[in-house]
Amino acid sequence: MIRQLDKVFVLDTKNTTYCFQVLETGHLEHLYYGKKIRIEEASDVRAIEEKHAFPPGNGNVYDSQFPKFALEDIRLEMSAYGKGDIREPFIEVIHRDGSYTSDFLYEKAEMYDDKKSLDTLPSAYEEAGKVSELIISLKDKQYDLTLELHYSVFEDRDVIVRSSKFINTSKGAVKLTRLMSMQLDFATSGYVFTTFNGNWAREMYRHDTLVSVGKHVNSSYAGTSSNRANPFVMLSRPETTEDQGICYGFNLIYSGNHYEAAEVNAYGKTRIVTGINPQSFCFVLAEGESFESPEAVMTVSNEGFNGMSRNMHDFVRNCIVRGAWKKKARPVLLNSWEACYFNINEARLLKLAKAGKEAGVELFVMDDGWFGTRNDDKQALGDWYVNKKKLPGGVKSICDKVNALGLDFGIWVEPEMINVNSDLYRAHPEWVMEIPGKPHSEGRNQRILDFANPAVVDYMIEQMVNVFSSANISYVKWDMNRIFSDYYSKHLKALHQGEVAHRYMIGLYRLMRTVTERFPHILFEGCASGGNRFDLGILCYFPQIWASDDTDAIYRAKGQTGYSYGYPMSTLTAHVSNCPNHQTLRETPLATRFNVAAFGLCGYECNLAEMKKEEVEEIKAQIALYKEWRDVLQYGTFYRGRSDNIYEWTCVSQDKSKAVGLVLQKLVEPNTTYEQFTPKGLDENKKYRFYNIEKKRNVKTFGDLVNAIAPIHIKNDSILHNGIDKVVKMPGEVEDYTAYGDVLMSGVKLKSAFCGTGYDENTRFFKDFESRLYFMEEIL
Ligand code: DGJ
Repeated sequence: MIRQLDKVFVLDTKNTTYCFQVLETGHLEHLYYGKKIRIEEASDVRAIEEKHAFPPGNGNVYDSQFPKFALEDIRLEMSAYGKGDIREPFIEVIHRDGSYTSDFLYEKAEMYDDKKSLDTLPSAYEEAGKVSELIISLKDKQYDLTLELHYSVFEDRDVIVRSSKFINTSKGAVKLTRLMSMQLDFATSGYVFTTFNGNWAREMYRHDTLVSVGKHVNSSYAGTSSNRANPFVMLSRPETTEDQGICYGFNLIYSGNHYEAAEVNAYGKTRIVTGINPQSFCFVLAEGESFESPEAVMTVSNEGFNGMSRNMHDFVRNCIVRGAWKKKARPVLLNSWEACYFNINEARLLKLAKAGKEAGVELFVMDDGWFGTRNDDKQALGDWYVNKKKLPGGVKSICDKVNALGLDFGIWVEPEMINVNSDLYRAHPEWVMEIPGKPHSEGRNQRILDFANPAVVDYMIEQMVNVFSSANISYVKWDMNRIFSDYYSKHLKALHQGEVAHRYMIGLYRLMRTVTERFPHILFEGCASGGNRFDLGILCYFPQIWASDDTDAIYRAKGQTGYSYGYPMSTLTAHVSNCPNHQTLRETPLATRFNVAAFGLCGYECNLAEMKKEEVEEIKAQIALYKEWRDVLQYGTFYRGRSDNIYEWTCVSQDKSKAVGLVLQKLVEPNTTYEQFTPKGLDENKKYRFYNIEKKRNVKTFGDLVNAIAPIHIKNDSILHNGIDKVVKMPGEVEDYTAYGDVLMSGVKLKSAFCGTGYDENTRFFKDFESRLYFMEEIL
């Protein structure tokens, strides 16, 4: 609910309050954002507003008419550069006279019982709960420019979405060099700024920085939201834990260059701003033109990181993801990439698809290599017609044959890219992002199409429509495999080159919107060398994203934990692959590869046609189990436990009648037999059966320890050893208990782990990289 109480604005959600007021200067002073507080009349905020009597020493007085105010020491809803606030500004404009100083003051407020969408960018929406919008208009005192601050209050989600719109209401053109989406000023310092950083194959490592002085910046200038620094960030207190303490979460509905800065000023106040990265950003706006910033999502919870994540997950699932697949069970797929790489042809693919069908997969995906002369990554991007040598009957023939096996068919594309060695480049060199006459830096041997040019976007819409209507395509993997360099659009004049990165995004979103609307039944999956563009902008069009090219289960445990802070598991795809792992060469148990992937949208990416029979049998059982539990795993509420040497996750169905838990161990700590699993989110008053599925162990996994029990000596790896291994199986531990939710949540004590003193059916075989799934079902 949004209320205006005289000069005070109060934005309430179910459990939170956001509040600011108009100062006598006309600036907007931030008052509060946190758990819900009771503000009934304007005077109720007198206790929490800062008292301004004299400006602090060495601070600039804003204006002689208002001698008490120094903007540097005031908590502001937005800040412009030039009138004494020397912190990170919200907006920067270069005026016609060359000045950089702006001073935006309150003009009016409008309130609506719904929320408008942005005109040029994807935006959040609500179809099941209540949303209202407040628009504050500010006017620049000297230069007659307009700035709107938009606040959308998603009451049932405990989320507020902010954005801004700059309108050039002055006479003549100005240059907009920075426009943030959100600014939030806190009265104190010592917040922990958490960011999620990495690179290819190691996305989303959590980093905590205590910001007690100075500034910490999380940003991308990669052209994508990037794997270097995801736009999702958190602010918390040092004492905040997974389940207790205050935690703020912020994200941006944007897929390009972004910027999040947490700064502590000389008075111990913290400011956080989020928005488009101002680096090399310069929009020239003629009289009457406007520019809108992407939407920034904010939430706060007093129930720790998990509480904040629950708000974000609920919001992303309901207010970002849209379309036919929003709430549908996502299929178990088999992707051809790690099995075949570029070496595909119809026979190979069909053999793989058949093996997939036998194992229980539902969708077969033909990855890279099917078009033009695409025999390696040096050629053919841009040439979206089938390679007849590999697929003589075209996409339709392979698709029909896959369909005939009883599988859906999916295809890979990379529409934003071009190789110099392609027919498209030869025909349209002017469509490529390159600086004329200058050498270009390439990434993965490819260049970027100039989506700042609408004609290029129109062409690519046509190409993609052709591909997607050429066969019975049910799924599309939309890849993007390089970061930007040499930002330049041959379509724009020199003065406008600072607009290229953002105009590219507008073009990309038009392409994505057009094809997803045209093919509503297709399940689209975003991908950018894995997680180089995992963000809410993409999720507004594609309901799921390939989280990382790294399928190593031990990396995945860390990476998926990172993603889980800001993104629900229903957006994150995870594949079981072969070992040694193709990215790390690590060997992990097949069970662990599945157990970790099962907490995302589980798929397979391995040569099922050539795997050992025993492994294929295990995979068959995994897929059957996943199908049985996928409603919980894909759409349940996710909770993190420990994330150190041991990872603990729980996913609980919406009605709390079922849950799945994971315990994963990175490295064995010798002689520690004791371990517990602490599920979260169960109903305290429901009684559950808690159990695991017994897994028998091969004798050979114990090596020559077999001699500790064998009546005769068995040589390691001998014919006898191998023979015994085939027939004798060692028991696995069984956990099977019934208890109320509150009992289980106090910590289920697991069977003793092996520690070198003996092994029987009551011993937990828990080597390096072992893991277990635990199932909880309500007893009625
Ligand atoms: C990068 C993706 O992340 C991979 O999964 C695969 O699709 C390759 N591109 C294909 O070139």
